[in-house]
Amino acid sequence: MRILGIETSCDETGIAVYDDEQGLLSHELYSQVKLHADYGGVVPELASRDHVRKIIPLIEKALVDAKTTAEQIDGVAFTQGPGLVGALLVGSSVGRSLAYAWNVPAVGVHHMEGHLLAPMLESTAPEFPFVALLVSGGHSMLVKVDAIGEYGVLGESIDDAAGEAFDKTAKLLGLDYPGGPLLAKLAEKGEPGHYKFPRPMTDRPGLDFSFSGLKTFAANTIRDADGSEQTKANIAYAFQEAVVDTLIIKCKRALKQTGMKRLVIAGGVSANTQLRSQMQALMKELKGEVFYPSLAYCTDNGAMIAYAGMQRLKAGQTVELSAQAKPRWPLDSLSGL
Ligand code: KG4
Ligand code: ZN
Repeated sequence: MRILGIETSCDETGIAVYDDEQGLLSHELYSQVKLHADYGGVVPELASRDHVRKIIPLIEKALVDAKTTAEQIDGVAFTQGPGLVGALLVGSSVGRSLAYAWNVPAVGVHHMEGHLLAPMLESTAPEFPFVALLVSGGHSMLVKVDAIGEYGVLGESIDDAAGEAFDKTAKLLGLDYPGGPLLAKLAEKGEPGHYKFPRPMTDRPGLDFSFSGLKTFAANTIRDADGSEQTKANIAYAFQEAVVDTLIIKCKRALKQTGMKRLVIAGGVSANTQLRSQMQALMKELKGEVFYPSLAYCTDNGAMIAYAGMQRLKAGQTVELSAQAKPRWPLDSLSGL
């Protein structure tokens, strides 16, 4: 079976063709980063309009690259939520229209399920059950994953998501949007030991996160500092160290609580090199395994939507053509296969 996957929940138009026997056949991505950079964040209306401009040419290219004709497509998966409503509406309208035109089922995919299953695209995919740390620009959560669709949220951010904290702190350091990767790059030049950021909510039990205090701490630190490039790099280093440390502490706790030995990290922040290497060290210490998507599939993309859509399609979990976009959609409300 072959499926077309469409992702338009935020500021990336991602399109992919996935075959359940041959794997990923093509994958196209258009990032709107430059469009939003002047505003220091995503402008929803601009995002929707740009998805409209890019989606059809990208779909055409994905089909050509996959050497696939419309007749060979067995279903169309689109991100149904959560995300920006206007952006979601573009993918959902085009996805359902193509399903109607091609007379195949439409599949509504949960964006975070897409992230969560992205490591399954790799040659060494994790087996169920596992604990997943989902860290993106919009969400941070720890999830107990027993099987596809069987998700128990163990903890989540009570304020900013991890990626959001990276982006806001990067902005305070004078970096462009989205600042996460730029802050990580700046931190490489930083020296340890100059600043000590707090590790929020690690001094009490529980698996929830809070990152907004780190941003305030960063703002105060930057205000009192000398503004030199080295100082900024030292602050970036200390900030990243605090976020990574906090995530490590919470993952360790989640693994202990569930008795699991397999950890998956996914979402945009899982591209962070420090986070990856420290998680690897943690799992070595715990004699477990860590899995993450390759860099191209950490941030938003169509491949993860095509993959998750395929699993739902094979289980007959399709949607009506009248299906509505779901800007808010709790992950633990999904059903199993
Ligand atoms: O998953 P994603 O593409 O979009 C959402 O679903 O939100 O995640 C984007 C987020 C942004 O906040 C971005 O700054 C962050 O992931 N990010 C990073 C890195 N690469 C992307 N944060 C820290 N280090 C990175 N290397
Ligand atoms: Zn995402």
